[in-house]
Amino acid sequence: MIHLGVNIDHVATVRQARRSVEPDPVHAAVLAELGGADGITVHVREDRRHIQDRDLRLLRQTVRGVLNLELAPREGGGVLELALEVGPDQVCLVPEHRAEITTEGGLAVSADDQRLRAVIERLRARGCLVSLFIEPEPAAVAAAAALGADAVELHTGSWAEAWAACRGRDDDPRLAREQQRLLAAAHEAGARGLRLHAGHGLNYHNVRGLLVLPGLREVNIGHSIVSRAVLVGIERAVREMKALLA
Ligand code: PXP
Repeated sequence: MIHLGVNIDHVATVRQARRSVEPDPVHAAVLAELGGADGITVHVREDRRHIQDRDLRLLRQTVRGVLNLELAPREGGGVLELALEVGPDQVCLVPEHRAEITTEGGLAVSADDQRLRAVIERLRARGCLVSLFIEPEPAAVAAAAALGADAVELHTGSWAEAWAACRGRDDDPRLAREQQRLLAAAHEAGARGLRLHAGHGLNYHNVRGLLVLPGLREVNIGHSIVSRAVLVGIERAVREMKALLA
């Protein structure tokens, strides 16, 4: 069964819209786990636009499954230091730019990036499983392995865009091309002994086409689950996604 990490950043986005105390992402995490989430994912951004340090500290105490923290691999911004203090079970290193609405593109990975290697080593020494959020390219997977990562999370944004453009018709060459890219990256991850994760832009329609990826262990899904949760409640929204992954 594919592990579902529910990203609850946008519960905090609604709270921060009023700089209020509700809705509390810690409550959302409890209900998401009751709905069957295998893990809870949050992105602590340097500008703290949604998840706050307090959320991460409380989630560390309350999450029963895997606590997965997304962060930019930068020293001195305060987030890496927070991660090392709090000790999430898993860390996913992502690129981060202040002006972006959401994470754009995968990390630029190169096997001789000593700064990235050092960040990975520090987090692994803290006991975190380290994943790199990368474009679905075999060369990026190979670089992640060379840097000492445990896992890669393949960026599925292009897959999601292709799916939307052709409404999921799998005979459409745009969708077939994106699936081939993901398959090639998945095979490379298997050959390198890396855990395979995927995420970004996944929803109740386009997630099905990813289930063919060999060795896929985990998906991280946020916006579509939180959007559905506004209408049907988060437990049900998570349960429905889990059923699609079964
Ligand atoms: N995985 C990573 C690495 C991400 O940065 C994000 C967005 O924060 C997600 C998964 C979830 O993306 P979405 O909100 O589009 O489901």
